[in-house]
Amino acid sequence: MLEKNMLDQLNGQLNLECYSYHLYWQMSAWCAAQGFPGSAGFLRLAAQSEQKHLEKLLNYISDTGALPLIGTISAPPDEFPSLPDLFQQIYEHEQAISDRINTLVHQALMTQDYTTFNFLQWFVSEQCQEEKQWKRILDQLEWLGNESKALFLFDQSLQHTG
Ligand SMILES: [Fe+2]
Ligand SMILES: [Fe+2]
Repeated sequence: MLEKNMLDQLNGQLNLECYSYHLYWQMSAWCAAQGFPGSAGFLRLAAQSEQKHLEKLLNYISDTGALPLIGTISAPPDEFPSLPDLFQQIYEHEQAISDRINTLVHQALMTQDYTTFNFLQWFVSEQCQEEKQWKRILDQLEWLGNESKALFLFDQSLQHTG
């Protein structure tokens, strides 16, 4: 059984995973509208992986006998100054999510909730992989520069990755 505080925080995380899911769908739609089909497809895959995260959390909360609460999810941004800026925002968003996961892990340990502590280890590794992936993309963008030809090639390379 989950302590009230831990349940609230896990529900908060569930809400954030739902937000990430919406965010990547919205970003994917923006990329498609701007003529970046490779990035749009890649972000659809990113949204699908967020769906897995929210399912994992929802199932875990249910398994403890508690009720998962999704709550109100804020609307994601729908305008971005440029493609590199969009990817920069993703990297910062994922870093903030990693911080939240770390806070949850710390709380689980401090309250001797080892079941939740064990459950969260999957998210710790997942965030590590995600940060690595988005940083690699940002590095590529930095190398290629901001000219339209470079962005076209970058977008094509994502099409082959996704
Ligand atoms: Fe996530
Ligand atoms: Fe993520």
